[in-house]
Amino acid sequence: MENFTFYSPTFFVFGKDTENEVGQYVKQFGGSKVLIHYGGKSAKSSGLLDRVEAALAKEGIPFVSLGGVKPNPRSGLVYEGIELCRKENVDFILAVGGGSVIDSSKAMAAGVLYDGDFWDFYAGKAKIEKALPIGTILTIAAAGSEGSRDSVITREEDLMKRGASSDLLRAKFSILNPALTQTLPPYQTAAGITDIMAHLYERYLTNTKEVEVTDRLIEALLLTMKHEGPRVIADPNNYEARANIMWAGMMAHNNSVGVGRSQDWNSHNIEHELSALYDCAHGAGLAVTMPAVFKYVMNHDVMRFAKAAVRIWGCQMDFDHPEVTALEGIEAFRRFLIDLGMPKNFEELGAKEEDIPTLVRMLCHGTRRDGNLYGFVKLTEEDCTNIYRMMV
Ligand code: NZQ
Ligand code: ZN
Repeated sequence: MENFTFYSPTFFVFGKDTENEVGQYVKQFGGSKVLIHYGGKSAKSSGLLDRVEAALAKEGIPFVSLGGVKPNPRSGLVYEGIELCRKENVDFILAVGGGSVIDSSKAMAAGVLYDGDFWDFYAGKAKIEKALPIGTILTIAAAGSEGSRDSVITREEDLMKRGASSDLLRAKFSILNPALTQTLPPYQTAAGITDIMAHLYERYLTNTKEVEVTDRLIEALLLTMKHEGPRVIADPNNYEARANIMWAGMMAHNNSVGVGRSQDWNSHNIEHELSALYDCAHGAGLAVTMPAVFKYVMNHDVMRFAKAAVRIWGCQMDFDHPEVTALEGIEAFRRFLIDLGMPKNFEELGAKEEDIPTLVRMLCHGTRRDGNLYGFVKLTEEDCTNIYRMMV
């Protein structure tokens, strides 16, 4: 195991009706003027926003609101939010929504207290030194941003989708009420499940030896997702299944299962160009990306893939031909995602073969890249081209 530090100060509030207590948590974490940030329509139409506003009013906390965050959140609304926070002397940002709303809130939180362009953090030109505190009320189990130190934003002018990370971006509190996710369309539920499993696989693909504790934790979470995913698709109102998925989603990405080990993240890098260019759901993009990446890199450590095949997907170990077992495991995962309702190729995702050169250029030569991707296996431009071709 490698040396590591781990700082995860978020206060989690989990369960039914917990969003009604948000006023007291904003107060507890020092908020005196709040920006409520939310998405397109779901928080409004479900009545959640009304309840949040009532909970803040009950504690006498003034607020302003900014809605309209789109999936794969854009830089334009971040600039707008930064201006609004400064004008209104906001000292606490409350994200009501999914990963996109939370990531947009994190970008604003860092940007408000920075003299330059907030994009500097995403371009790797500046380090986040301070940020306004944020709290979240999560409405979809997926990105894990409620517990993570990351934020992913797409710059409008060139569709460059990049991330920024800092412990200062971790939420002060996150309210997780699984019942709030019951209004999700099945496709979004499935995309969320896929993203959670991707966060686990990205950590499982490691070059670090002797990481039994985190290997086993990741396997446990993947097995949970394998069990609960189909249950929640069959019965969207299954509160218990949604509760297990929601907490697994947090654990998958706050990095408690990723410490002390190298991680991959090349499926994410390759996918981010797809959701940037086609505006598809991040999880749907991952469903098409992961099987291709896994098949491409599996011979780098075939026993790791074989182990996942046996322990997670119940495959029979073929000791003479471990690559057969490894492939069976990848295929079982691919089939699982298709059965959940996820796309299986470029066409179903809405991606185009003729765009592959553009995707590879943005991926390998865009902001913060030197022509290669570094992870479980180093991927060159040619490798990335081959991987995108495998998805067609
Ligand atoms: O805007 P509304 O109307 O709320 O609709 C949203 C949106 O269309 C809808 N939705 C959310 N909760 C709902 C609901 N609809 C009905 N009922 C509810 N309860 O779902 C759609 C997707 O929402 P979004 O926030 O985009 O989903 P997700 O949480 O998957 O976030 C995706 C974004 O997070 C980034 C992704 O790249 C993508 O931009 N990621 C962020 C990470 C992080 N910060 O740590 C890590 C991830 O790997 C990921 O890259
Ligand atoms: Zn993800």
